Amino acid sequence: MKIPVDKPVLVTSALPYVNGECHIGHLRTYVPADIYVRMLRKMGYDVRFISGSDTHGTPIVLSAEAQGITPEKVVEKYHEHFRQVFKALNVNFDYYGQTDSESNHRRTEAIVKKLIEKDYVYKRVTKQAFCDTCGRFLPDRYVEGKCPHCGDIARGDECDQGCGKHLEPGEIIEPKCKICGNAAVFKDQEQFFFKLSTFADFLSSYLDNLGGTLNARNYAREWVKKELRDWCITRNLEWGVKFPGRNDLVVYVWVDAPIGYISFTEELLKGMEGADKDWRKYWKDDKAVIVHFIGTDIIYHHCIFWPAMLKGAEYSLPDAVVASGMVKINGGTFSKSRGNVIWTKEFLERFHPDTLRYYLVSQSSHTKELNFSWDSFYLRVNNELVGVLGNLVHRVLTFAHKNFAEVPEGNIDEEVFAAIEKRRDDAISAVEEYEFKKLVDAVMSLADFGNRYFQRAEPWHLINKGEKGRESCGIVVKNALQILKAVCILLEPVMPEKMSEVWRQLGMESDVHSAKLDELMVPIESGQALGKPKMLFKRIET
Ligand code: MSP
Ligand code: ZN
Repeated sequence: MKIPVDKPVLVTSALPYVNGECHIGHLRTYVPADIYVRMLRKMGYDVRFISGSDTHGTPIVLSAEAQGITPEKVVEKYHEHFRQVFKALNVNFDYYGQTDSESNHRRTEAIVKKLIEKDYVYKRVTKQAFCDTCGRFLPDRYVEGKCPHCGDIARGDECDQGCGKHLEPGEIIEPKCKICGNAAVFKDQEQFFFKLSTFADFLSSYLDNLGGTLNARNYAREWVKKELRDWCITRNLEWGVKFPGRNDLVVYVWVDAPIGYISFTEELLKGMEGADKDWRKYWKDDKAVIVHFIGTDIIYHHCIFWPAMLKGAEYSLPDAVVASGMVKINGGTFSKSRGNVIWTKEFLERFHPDTLRYYLVSQSSHTKELNFSWDSFYLRVNNELVGVLGNLVHRVLTFAHKNFAEVPEGNIDEEVFAAIEKRRDDAISAVEEYEFKKLVDAVMSLADFGNRYFQRAEPWHLINKGEKGRESCGIVVKNALQILKAVCILLEPVMPEKMSEVWRQLGMESDVHSAKLDELMVPIESGQALGKPKMLFKRIET
């Protein structure tokens, strides 16, 4: 999607459940979103980037029960954990909130009340899983059984190991209590429903115009075509946002979680000049572009529940939903209980965060599955980061530093400018197509061009050929440095720390994080002192 340059953009990343630690599967939502934001800023857009912790729902209460602590303590612990991980990875949100904030409670109540007022909500007695042994209702993850669609093992509200579908309370087959393991029974219980079925026509035309990746639109369209059933929006839980007027019910976590996107925008702008006007610009008056980054497992929630809720309560609608494929390990689904998981913290104890960022986007196209293996990680690092990029940086900077110590005099060749311009255009279209692999491939091909350019010009022969030779050599070096400068700007969104290191070695005084794409075609300044070259990436011994 091409965004008009004068439109403000709000980019969000799905809110992680803070019920446990961050694994590398999560990162496929956060790293590409951060890259997208950094690229948009380089392209001159006014962007705000928000996310936050999803603190409600059964993921949190079950984790609390398992650890023998309160939900508040679980939230505190993992909220801090996720913040640290994002910081370590340089995923730079403008605001990172949490859904149990005061303002999210208020915003959720206001939206639910509005939906009630507009007659989109009704009460109905339903069959709910109940455990006689534990003496309680079993919402969502409290119950396990068989998926009515595919027959695989499923949780109360989603078929997480099988077909991935959302399940309504009472739909699961052969339910068992997660706490005691006994068979559950179905018991009558009063719940509140949202009239999702009345939004079918709206959703089908909304999805026709929705930006983002095709997988999101197509998956959601299938559902709208089949049949939309009304959506149960309450649960028998203590922990959560109370349903208006009912002390025994909270709203389903998928009601208050996406509303967090709105509350966090408000929290970010609070205290800033024109905060109220600004907030409305994003969520009420349709003056901005809203882009959601998520994984394929939550397309249904973002492309069906969420726009219907926003439409019903009269808010602006998201313009694009960008859904990544899932991360698998050696062909299998990530599963904490089966020990099939790679923790981000452990990864970062051994490897530089930029290598992980690079791997996550270069390994496969954004909407495809990414099958993680250590071998594929080592190959990317050794062949591409060390072999192509590290090689270019090392040979050019070492030669330039040793023979000139500063950027030499000379003009930039047409050929070099053309090579840079082509990669700039490729990078822009990659961003507009949400194809982050295409972005890194474009820049790596520029690095490859740089290596060939340097090799072909053989500056090491020129340097010994008197005054004239030294002059020609200087021109080659200056051109090679120009290529490096361009690589830095274009790769900064992917590897912000490493590109900042190279930027300093190039003797640039400005900050590569705020460098715009316009600077790609500005010749690097002759006379600026080059820094002492340092090795960029280490080979990984397998
Ligand atoms: N709390 C919800 C999102 C609410 S948004 C209003 C949630 N949380 S999560 O912790 O389970 O996932 C957070 C993000 O990580 C989601 O975008 C999800 O798709 C993504 N991923 C979690 N595991 C993943 C993989 N194994 N692979 C790819 N993405 C995955 O969903
Ligand atoms: Zn299923």
